[in-house]
Amino acid sequence: MTSTTAAEQSAARAASALLDVYARVGPLFVRGEGAELIADDGTRYLDLVAGIAVNALGYDHPVIRDAIDQALASGLIHVSNLYRTEPGERLAEELVARSFASRVFFCNSGAEANEAAFKFARKWSGKSEIVAFTGSFHGRLFASLAATDRPEYRKPFEPLVPGVRIVPREDWAAVDHAISASRTAAVIVEPLQGEGGVRPVDPEWLAFARELCAGRGVALIFDEVQCGLGRTGTLFAYEQAEVVPDMLTLAKPLAGGLPMGAVLLTDGIAAALKPGDHATTFGGGPLVARVALAVVRTIAEPGFLAAVRELGAWLGASLAGVAARHRRVAEVRGRGLMWGIELTEPAAPFVAAARERHLLVATAGANVIRLVPPLVVTREELERGVGILEEVLS
Ligand SMILES: Cc1ncc(COP(=O)(O)O)c(C=O)c1O
Repeated sequence: MTSTTAAEQSAARAASALLDVYARVGPLFVRGEGAELIADDGTRYLDLVAGIAVNALGYDHPVIRDAIDQALASGLIHVSNLYRTEPGERLAEELVARSFASRVFFCNSGAEANEAAFKFARKWSGKSEIVAFTGSFHGRLFASLAATDRPEYRKPFEPLVPGVRIVPREDWAAVDHAISASRTAAVIVEPLQGEGGVRPVDPEWLAFARELCAGRGVALIFDEVQCGLGRTGTLFAYEQAEVVPDMLTLAKPLAGGLPMGAVLLTDGIAAALKPGDHATTFGGGPLVARVALAVVRTIAEPGFLAAVRELGAWLGASLAGVAARHRRVAEVRGRGLMWGIELTEPAAPFVAAARERHLLVATAGANVIRLVPPLVVTREELERGVGILEEVLS
């Protein structure tokens, strides 16, 4: 009998048992430490993907381990929203204290957070239409997919939720035309688009959309599922745009890798909602909330955010240097520790070549290499990563 490696057995198992909706590649990861993933053969990979902007504190962070240990010691993993438990209340209080919001709703993912925000906007406004923008990604459920500008993801599942329009981003006339005082419930925008190619959105245009929404009784939703919670160097991306939304959605990094989403709302919108209007079984359970509280407190430390800004400035400058030296780089864009390298050709082969050299980066759309490292990455690790990227681009 021929012996097979654990990686081969895993690949065979995946091929026979897992639904084939992910194009999984590469090694079998068995451990993580800081900004590194370790494969079953012991090879260490520098991970500048961080679970697609989820593992903000990297792997095996003591703050997350302690929070999980405390939750386990209490015996409470899930209780249900029929009853009160403390961690979710404390987490909501923390998010309210650190943001524009007065209330928080917890759910389990980014798409769910956006779906909830749409429902809240409809109930509050008494209107139904939703306006989203080109380059957007808001999730894969029926309404969030309707607000997502990816025809290949949408087409097989149509009809999606009606009344959702996608209009050109940063087009002043288009947004003015699209927002109707009588029909529009919500406008949703990522202040820094992620999946659409890592594109910071013009703060002046965001301010214009803010003004239109306020004047026409429309809820402005900022989707900070990918760019929120410290990734841009402030706790929330809206702080840098200096434009305050009516609702803000969070997910990816919120609970340190455990599934959790949240909608932050103003008092005005919260007042339109009553028990029974929305719910989810697992939302804000004691285990995830305890971990999220530890994550939010850690990221919100001024020294932590200052380090993200400093590392981000260094990374942006070094990627600009790479762009200047390589003709196949068209542009680099980003903020904090969220960067896109737009190439003049498809990015996937370069992502694969980087993985061969034990560096994990992702694509964001066809031509963009995306870097969303753990926020605890070190300068030395970033230098190593940029060095490998430079080799691969040569
Ligand atoms: C900006 C943004 N919104 C929403 C989502 C959907 O989040 P989830 O995959 O947790 O449903 C994503 C996921 O990539 C995202 O980047």
